[in-house]
Amino acid sequence: MLAAAAAAAVPPAASCYSPLKPARCGGRSRTRFFSMLVVGVFPDGILSVTILFCHRRWGISWRCRAARVEAGFSQLEVRKVTYRPPGTEHNLLNEINLSLREKSFGLIFGRSGSGKTTLLQLLAGLSEPTSGSICIQKYDDSGNPIGSSEMLTSQRVGIVFQFPERYFLADTVLEEVTFGWPRQKADTLFKEQLAVNLQNAFNSVGLTTISLDEDPQSLSGGFKRRLALAIQLVQTPNLLLLDEPLAGLDWKARADVVNLLKDLKKHHTILVVSHDLRELYPLVDCSWRMQMGGSLREETLPV
Ligand SMILES: *[C@@H]1O[C@H](CO)[C@@H](O)[C@H](O)[C@H]1NC(C)=O
Ligand SMILES: [Mg+2]
Repeated sequence: MLAAAAAAAVPPAASCYSPLKPARCGGRSRTRFFSMLVVGVFPDGILSVTILFCHRRWGISWRCRAARVEAGFSQLEVRKVTYRPPGTEHNLLNEINLSLREKSFGLIFGRSGSGKTTLLQLLAGLSEPTSGSICIQKYDDSGNPIGSSEMLTSQRVGIVFQFPERYFLADTVLEEVTFGWPRQKADTLFKEQLAVNLQNAFNSVGLTTISLDEDPQSLSGGFKRRLALAIQLVQTPNLLLLDEPLAGLDWKARADVVNLLKDLKKHHTILVVSHDLRELYPLVDCSWRMQMGGSLREETLPV
């Protein structure tokens, strides 16, 4: 079923494709095309793009090339992850399962010391699971997996720790953000890309009003959190992990960060560990309770 059709002419050939004015169409060996792009959306959500090429010399005959573009989704999948710190006999996490679709907002709640932060550290690649896997799986729109899953690599994950401003090291915002960027000349292109990312990150967290020369410690609580987020976003992660993003902020900064997360959710997959259930509730797509002993259970927020 064709839901939409659009015709696009490739200039200047389109005006030449006229049986009435063949003489104007120029040299005999020149290729003249009239092309038409037909875009169709099928009921199963698969987008089809058809390009019709009509050559002047072929008259009305036409060729058709169709490409099918899958419009599915990808999902973070934590499968049976168990973690026991090296040299200990005690599991901090037990057979954790969790699935989070791209561009959605997941929240893990539960008592302090239940293993929430430990799980974020595993997802960020800061420690290795003792068993189980953490991967990204693609699906088509009917929910059938496409190909096999890929391991989630730490380069694709950004993590903002609890009280990130305590780890600021530099004297200026610019140094803080560019800390750890390559210093070698050979990496100029890479640095240029980072500079573009930096601009995008600052735009998306609303940090464009501050000076890059400012001392990070002189920023307000809310702006320090924005800066910590921007530092992670510069690396354009697929998954953003936040440990207690509202902790220690006054009510105004909390509202500010909640609004920012609402915005970031449009483009990023976000997994948050928090005790601030009521404030984050409007953003949450899925939630889990971490129980003492390190087992995770899907559960709606108790608010
Ligand atoms: C996680 O899923 C596996 C099956 O895939 C199951 O054996 C295990 O019990 C699940 N973990 C929990 C905590 O429910
Ligand atoms: Mg914690």
